Amino acid sequence: MTLEEKTSLLSGADFWHTKGVERLGIPEFMMCDGPNGLRKQEGESDHLGIHGSIKTVCYPTASSVAASFDVDLAKQLGERLGDECQRENVSMLLGPGLNMKRSPVCGRNFEYYSEDPYLAGKIAAAYVKGLQSKGVSACPKHFAANNQEYRRMSGSSQVDERTLHEIYLTAFEMVVKEARPKSIMCSYNKLNGTFLSENKYMLTDVLRDKWGFDGFVVTDWGAVRGAENGMNAGLDLAMPGGSEDHEKAVLKAVQEGRLDEKIVDKAVTNILNTMMWTLENKPSKVKPSDDSTRKADYEFAKELAENSAVLLKNERRALPLKDGQKVLFVGEFAKNPRYQGSGSSHINSAYVSNAYDAARERGISFAQGYDIKDKGNNLALREEALEAAEKADVIVIFAGLPASYESEGFDRKDINIPPEQDKLIMELAQLGKKTVVVMHNGAPVSMPWIDYVDAVLDMMLAGDAVGEATVDLLWGEVNPSGKLPETYPMRLSDNPSYLNFPGEGGNPVYAEGIFMGYRYYEKKRITPLFAFGHGLTYTEFDYTKFHIDKPEATDKDKITVSVDVWNVGRYAGKETVQLYVAKADSRYARPVKELKGFKKVSLSPGKRKTVTFTLDARAFAVYDTRLHDFYVESGDYTIMVGASSLDIRNAGVVKIQGTTRIPHDFNMFTPIADILEDEKGREVFGPILEQSGPADGTEALGEGADEMMRNMLLEMPVKALSSFGMVDEKTLLKMMDKIK
Ligand code: BGC
Repeated sequence: MTLEEKTSLLSGADFWHTKGVERLGIPEFMMCDGPNGLRKQEGESDHLGIHGSIKTVCYPTASSVAASFDVDLAKQLGERLGDECQRENVSMLLGPGLNMKRSPVCGRNFEYYSEDPYLAGKIAAAYVKGLQSKGVSACPKHFAANNQEYRRMSGSSQVDERTLHEIYLTAFEMVVKEARPKSIMCSYNKLNGTFLSENKYMLTDVLRDKWGFDGFVVTDWGAVRGAENGMNAGLDLAMPGGSEDHEKAVLKAVQEGRLDEKIVDKAVTNILNTMMWTLENKPSKVKPSDDSTRKADYEFAKELAENSAVLLKNERRALPLKDGQKVLFVGEFAKNPRYQGSGSSHINSAYVSNAYDAARERGISFAQGYDIKDKGNNLALREEALEAAEKADVIVIFAGLPASYESEGFDRKDINIPPEQDKLIMELAQLGKKTVVVMHNGAPVSMPWIDYVDAVLDMMLAGDAVGEATVDLLWGEVNPSGKLPETYPMRLSDNPSYLNFPGEGGNPVYAEGIFMGYRYYEKKRITPLFAFGHGLTYTEFDYTKFHIDKPEATDKDKITVSVDVWNVGRYAGKETVQLYVAKADSRYARPVKELKGFKKVSLSPGKRKTVTFTLDARAFAVYDTRLHDFYVESGDYTIMVGASSLDIRNAGVVKIQGTTRIPHDFNMFTPIADILEDEKGREVFGPILEQSGPADGTEALGEGADEMMRNMLLEMPVKALSSFGMVDEKTLLKMMDKIK
């Protein structure tokens, strides 16, 4: 290829296509937004979901998919989207989005999975595997630390190295290692002062060298900054196309000797490799989408919605609803549901079901209750609802966030739903009848009426089948089984990012560090409205026969944990067993516990299944900034299994021997405690510290050492041993030599 041909491939032909090279038979290649459906634009293009796109099926958004805690369903979703892309001749789907939910008010949280990197990573990997099994490239986004919309194109996320790797990069690392995506999208923002599109540490050192990524890096739409810096950092493709600025700048940089042509070759190779893969995996014949494909996809959207809805509260046996009850539906969302977010992921639904139509044959009645477009206080609608409620046995209120609250491009101001909805719920609840609230929201909301209602079914943003899924869940045709993939705080100010969100000038300091989401609430003992992993069901599950296969292991061994789950209730249902790992006496600041495994099982009443987890070193590791890598400390770890982060059913301990030695630079001013943490340090200094005591003959750090004396000495620098006459200086120097 000529240099010009090569550089022409480095930016797009138009909004959604790469350029082809006719002379060499290289075709254009189309990419489209999703990720909870296919947003293929045939007319005018944009990246904010403003212009139209083809009619298709809108699936539950990422926040819902994560709530299913179901990797099989996530994979099937990827497969369905892959088929749809093939039918529409789309080679790459721009997703999934897997940024961490640092704050509940980030405008795009509905597009993201979780506040927990392990959960997000597992769901994303399954989705990518499914999509790519159909020969369509995935493009996990937005890499990385893009956790707010405010100043998303200019702000700098200030994140320390450990927090970055343990929290904000882990899901990306998992998806790269487990699912090998053919592409990745770098985000608009800066990380610690450097734009992601020109961040060599991120695009090359971490992504390629550390994790082994072998696809191509594409910018978020318009995120390219300096062409030369970008190329040198590891950027491959600048999108959208339509202007020749980028390729011309690259060409000039090579011609003027500022950019090595080998770097251009590498980028072109990365792009062509993916294109070749796409061509090789293209089915020879595909039937275009039609009513039957859409119907099948819709049925799957329904299954996913039913498996994602979270039953947050259920008292007085309010749910499931029973035949013969007089049920009143209240709220505009019952007829006109909220089922997806706004922005570039916005899908043009061919058909959306609503709960009112889906339940009509069950004889329900309806009152509008509020006007979603009218911000005012609609007294007449509320009174009409209160009056209608007099005749009902059960009141089901459909509430949640209006579309204008949740979108790409800006953040929410608070976590409230419109006040008139809160008021309506409160007034209806006070009638003393059974009151159920069905929520539609892509991120946590406050529920000031929670103590006054009997049940809350959180449908999240459930996609096209929202209405039918809601009705099936309400009447118990399907048993709710979703669990919260993020904490619902009592109030926004409880959230760990609160003081540093969105940051001055859009430069948030991630001061809460690794204590994000439940890692923070648990550590600070702050009671949330609903905890991470929480979700009820109409049946009941018992956990028995918890077993860890070995009491001791090294960090090279695999540990198998198993537990039997019984359905001891009256309904068939699904349970997600969550596995958490904790290290109490750590030398690092560590969360109370962290999710390291989850499995969803389906059980008929009276039935039992054994759930098994295999844990490797990573389940126990922290990121150590001296090693610049993950590291397993030696010691006791507690392994727990439970039905939510706050509902732990069984726990056991395993002793793990770490096999990596942390490089250190011990000197005379190193605290004695640090020396004793090192194996060699203990060997050399241990005996002296136990034998040689201070002048009065008491031991220094031996068994009988005075507690105060011991604590004081541990925090002193090594030099104190000679200053205070426990060893002479010459001996001390020799000892130091031995441990270096
Ligand atoms: C969004 C991406 C999207 C792209 C193309 C950007 O504004 O951040 O998620 O894929 O536009 O529409």
